[in-house]
Parts: sequence; structure tokens; C-alpha cells
Amino acid sequence: CQNGLGYKTPPMGWNPYNAFNSSFNDTLIRQHVDIIVNQGYLAAGYRYINLDDGWQASERTKDNRLSFNSSKFPFGIKDLADYVHRNGLLFGIYSDAGIQTCGGLPGSLDYEDIDVQTFVDWDIDYLKYDNCNEQRRPEQERYKKMGDALNSATAGKNKTIYYNICEWGTSNPWLWGPGVGHSWRTTPDIIAFWPSIISIIDSQVRLTEYGGPERGWNDPDMLVLGFERIPYDEQVTHYAFWAALKAPLILGCDLRKVDDKIKALILNDDIISVNQDPLGLSICQVYYKTDNDISFDIWTGPLDDGYVAILFNRGIESKSITLDFKNHCRLDGTIEVYDLVNQLSNGNYANNYTAVDIPKHGVEFIKLIGGNNFDDDRPCLNYS
Ligand code: DGJ
Repeated sequence: CQNGLGYKTPPMGWNPYNAFNSSFNDTLIRQHVDIIVNQGYLAAGYRYINLDDGWQASERTKDNRLSFNSSKFPFGIKDLADYVHRNGLLFGIYSDAGIQTCGGLPGSLDYEDIDVQTFVDWDIDYLKYDNCNEQRRPEQERYKKMGDALNSATAGKNKTIYYNICEWGTSNPWLWGPGVGHSWRTTPDIIAFWPSIISIIDSQVRLTEYGGPERGWNDPDMLVLGFERIPYDEQVTHYAFWAALKAPLILGCDLRKVDDKIKALILNDDIISVNQDPLGLSICQVYYKTDNDISFDIWTGPLDDGYVAILFNRGIESKSITLDFKNHCRLDGTIEVYDLVNQLSNGNYANNYTAVDIPKHGVEFIKLIGGNNFDDDRPCLNYS
């Protein structure tokens, strides 16, 4: 995918859909640009501001162009894109690989080239491409057509457009997505409550080998950090997994209302460094135990400068979990265990490390520093 060169780490940004559905407008987007720039989000790496379904006018123009809803966007999309760019951010838009979007607005199926021309005229940097009203035409064909249109419109220009294939995992996009787009949704829409988060984590177990800098990224959907009804420990679990799975980190909450504790979590530079690690490899599941309410699992993976592990208490009572360096990480020697959430060293250990009293639905998210990786084969459980 020519257009894909240069996306060596997952994208980070913000999208209004999880908090606002289609009820977003020019004022709200500009407010979020200002918050992202002035409150440390851009400095932490969040640099895409994306629109979702609902920016469009209900009809195409006479010359078949997509147009914007002028009551929501009185200055137009190019004016907003210029504002985003003047503030040092990148700008994303949304369309659909069907005749209409999920919200019933015009889709891009069979209008790929003309719509990409509009997006290029508006200086768009990112396209999320949805999958409603698809006329039963095959996913691969529809998504490749848009990928080709993006490639030819940007070929030879100093411009790339990040392409997110949002077909919800229906046709195994992790198999054909590499070379077509830069990330692919693996699963249906995330909902801001625990059963949705845990079911998405479970569905990643078999997919962790498919993402990477040379292929593209599995996208388990946008973050639901900052939604008050999710307890703090569950938000930590959600963020730890998305970061270490090398998922795109696209915030979806109302940034005007995030409390200080969640804001500190979102801006945690150690967690973000795991996500943006140059090696770009996902963690995989290396151990699980299912025993009524005391089920837990362990996920690990290499980093450019260490190893990362998630000790995950799925149960409803607090629990201690032991990481065995040899069996779960293929590491020996003396290892420093660094707590990524609280950003402090837990000290040096040989052979194993026990995390004590991990809360219900919580994780201990740690980086292992030093030691010796004695075997290149990873200890991932094999589900094939
Ligand atoms: C389905 C997608 O999966 C969501 O993320 C969102 O874009 C909606 N469609 C918008 O209609």
C-alpha cells in the first residue's frame, strides 16, 4: 500500500462518536482542538481530530460531490481542517463503503474517486470507512476500491491519508487488510460498560499475530476512557490492553469533562510509550486459568527496550498473580519490574514476580527491564 508508508506506530487521536454519536458540530470540534493542544494531549501524542458519521449534508451536490451539513458546519470542512492544521494537529473524516452511511447519509460506494478528490481538496489526513448499506457486495472489493482511490489521488504528492477499514471484523480483514489499509476494526462497536470491554479483549486472543508496523494495526475500536459509569480499575484494564495490543488510541469521551485522575491515566507517558514502541509487536496470551470467579490470565510481549506484561484478574475478588519470567516471557537473570500505571519501580526480581491483591477486573501492567531473552520463540498460546 503506497499510501501507507510511514505509519510505523498506531495512530492516536480523538473522535466524537462514543460520547456524542452524530451530535457534533464546528464549535464542539474546535473546543476539542483547543483542549488537545492546551491541556497536554497533543504533547502526549494525541494528534488526530476525526469526524464521524453526521458531518455530511443529506444529498450530494449537483456535480455529485459529498457536501457538509451547513447548520452544523457553517464555515465548511476546509475551514475546520485549516483550523486543525494551524494548531499542529491532523484531520480525519468518515465515510461508508455502501450507498448510505449507518446514519442514512450519502455513502461513497461507486463514488470513491470523486469523494477522495473532495477529501484531498479539503486536506484530509485520515479516513474511517464504515460498512453499512453495502448492497451485499464483497468487503474486500469495496474496501480495496477506496484504498486504490486514496493511493492514486495521493501518488507523487507529499501527502498520505491514513485509511481505517471499519468493517467490524466481518470478513477477517486482518487477513486481507494489510496492503489495503492501515488498520482494520476487529469487532462490533464498543459500548462503555464492562461486558463489551471484556468481550473485545477475548476476541483479540486469536488476532495478536496479525498487527505490526509492516502490516497495519488490529483496531478493537475507539477508547471508552473517561466514561464515568466505568469504574477506574476497569478503565485501567481497558487502556493497558489497548496500549499493549498496539491498537489505535482514539479517545472518544467529552474532553471538557474528564476528571483529573482519568486525565492523568490518559496522559500517562509510560503507557503511551508501550503503544508507540518502535518494535510494534502486540502482546499475546501466554497463560489463562478459568475457575468460576477466580479466573485470570497473563499476556506478555517484547518491547524495543524490554518486555511488557499484563497480569489480569478477570474475577470479582481481588487476587495475587505470579509472573514466571522463564515460562511466560523467555527471560532469565535479574529483572527490574516497573509499574507502568503508577510509574514507579517495584524493585529487582529473579525467576518470578508476584503482583499482590490485583483488584476485581483489574490488571498489574508492568515493564520488565534487563535480564536475558534466551529464546526468540515467544510463549504465546497457540489457538490455530
Ligand atoms: C458504525 C461504526 O462502527 C461506528 O464506529 C460509527 O462510526 C457508526 N457506524 C456511525 O454511524
